[in-house]
Amino acid sequence: MNKRNKAKEIITRLLSFSPPLLHSLRFTRRFIWLATAVRRYESRLPFKGIIGENRGFYRYDLSNKTIYSIKSLYKKQAKTPTALTIGPENIDAFQEIFSKLENPVIDYLGKEVKLDGINFFIRSGLDSLTQKGFSTNWHTDNVGVRLKVFLCFDGDGTQPTIIIPPKKNIPSLQYLAYVYFLEVLRWLNIQNKIPLKNELFLNHRTGTVFVLDTNVLHRGSWVNSTETRHLLQFEFSNPDKHELMKGILEGPIGTKNTNSFSFHKSLSKLNCFYKFIDNKRSYKQGLYINYRNNDSK
Ligand SMILES: [Fe+2]
Repeated sequence: MNKRNKAKEIITRLLSFSPPLLHSLRFTRRFIWLATAVRRYESRLPFKGIIGENRGFYRYDLSNKTIYSIKSLYKKQAKTPTALTIGPENIDAFQEIFSKLENPVIDYLGKEVKLDGINFFIRSGLDSLTQKGFSTNWHTDNVGVRLKVFLCFDGDGTQPTIIIPPKKNIPSLQYLAYVYFLEVLRWLNIQNKIPLKNELFLNHRTGTVFVLDTNVLHRGSWVNSTETRHLLQFEFSNPDKHELMKGILEGPIGTKNTNSFSFHKSLSKLNCFYKFIDNKRSYKQGLYINYRNNDSK
């Protein structure tokens, strides 16, 4: 073993005694790559439209009919262990959801943007006491620019997402430093839920949809919640960026087992939805199209 490998082994062993230190070093390495190579790529994105004007978020409301359709989808899905399956009975709901998403998402991320996944995200007040409570600390999702859509089909607003929008869509180095020092604390096992200047509350109530760039500093808040919050989530990003991030930066972005889904072929006629479908991730199976990555994790 040469000197370099030996030194590496000693450092790894020392760090294994302190997982928080190891996690914070890994976070720092990831943060630097995101703030350099990925940021260079992202500086070419348009960041226009309502999401750009709001500095990374947008809210709209849905009709009761659409909410009813999503609730039925959830009930149907709860009875089966298969991936989320969107049937022809959900077509009108998807028409409403995507017709209001279409332009804002493209204006912000460009024409190449694709849908990465759809999944249900259900959380009770008690979850804040478990490992899931990690996201109640200030953070970004550490994947660079990526849009997440939170469609609330049952919620009373007591589990908001709190955000601090930056002054510019490509955040300044000052904002990045602020984000870094706030987030590194959670990797060091130190809680950082303190109220900050310029906080905005995205209150998830039944019928609301919030679109959020998860590169914006945010945290979940649900300690005072007594009711379970039901969300349907959609994720959008640029496939080119997934290529750029392969290896060291691979992380919670793209199509994974947790957000892969299937849809009935009739939805391919829905232009506002189908334009976000990536052919490379589509696999026909009878009347349905399975949307997944071959190497999904
Ligand atoms: Fe997050």
